[in-house]
Amino acid sequence: MDQPIFLMTEPDHFGVVYQINPWMRPDSWHADPVAGLSAARAASRALRAALIETGAKVEMIPAAPGLPDLVFPANAAIILDGVVVPARFRHPERQGEEAMFRAAFETLKARGLVTEIVELPPDVIQEGAGDCIWDADRGLFWVGHGQRSSANSVPAIAQAFGKPLVALELASPRFYHLDTCFCPLQGGKLLFYPPAFTPEALAAIHSQVAPKDRIEASDEEAQAFCVNAVNFGRQVVMAKAPQSLRHKLTALGYRLHEVDLAPFILSGGGAYCMTLRLDRRSGSAQLRIRA
Ligand code: ARG
Repeated sequence: MDQPIFLMTEPDHFGVVYQINPWMRPDSWHADPVAGLSAARAASRALRAALIETGAKVEMIPAAPGLPDLVFPANAAIILDGVVVPARFRHPERQGEEAMFRAAFETLKARGLVTEIVELPPDVIQEGAGDCIWDADRGLFWVGHGQRSSANSVPAIAQAFGKPLVALELASPRFYHLDTCFCPLQGGKLLFYPPAFTPEALAAIHSQVAPKDRIEASDEEAQAFCVNAVNFGRQVVMAKAPQSLRHKLTALGYRLHEVDLAPFILSGGGAYCMTLRLDRRSGSAQLRIRA
């Protein structure tokens, strides 16, 4: 397998200073922002170190004042085969990130790390890889909508990439991005949290994923932001996991790396959304590494 490359953002201007999802608690943050920021710096460093230790490369982009959620680049774009489709954020609080990330993608393009930047139609809201997850084993995108990304992002993504996709409507404000409740693992397993989906979305998941490949997360596991995991090969990097999940994944042959991401969970994010995979290919190179 090629060495995976992830984008992360420096956490220097991170904070929980507004509330755009039910996890965000500005009151707790404001009780001690200095301690919060120092914990966030340590957590971000630990995540970066865990990714590097497991064999990945990490590209960092700088923080920007006034954009505390810039630390979640999973929301910045969908990237496949070098094609970058930049996000359009639902909430004004995050819309300022669009220009920052766009500049970062232009730089990555100039360096040859991505090849093309393709725009979504103007009336589409789409929050990047947080709501559009490539499944290498099945050769398709899983596309979340209904909380942040709009339903019309589904045909727009189909148009931009020309790849098969399965749309999944999200049912819960607490699991507002697909990546909070859905994580395909290489080898064909799927870690997911059923209560986050509408009945139609669950039926769509069941039609694509055989019962033996379904790993259903418990309430506790989902609330620990452990479904929001980074996976490549057998490596799985996630927030501190309940014992139950550690056992399930280890028994299936995955190697779990846990990082204390508490400051970012206070913003409603975990390991996956703090990263954006830059080098994902749809071809055979990353396909079917059987666990
Ligand atoms: N505070 C951020 C927001 O509400 C957290 C984003 C987490 N990202 C994710 N892909 N789940 O937008």
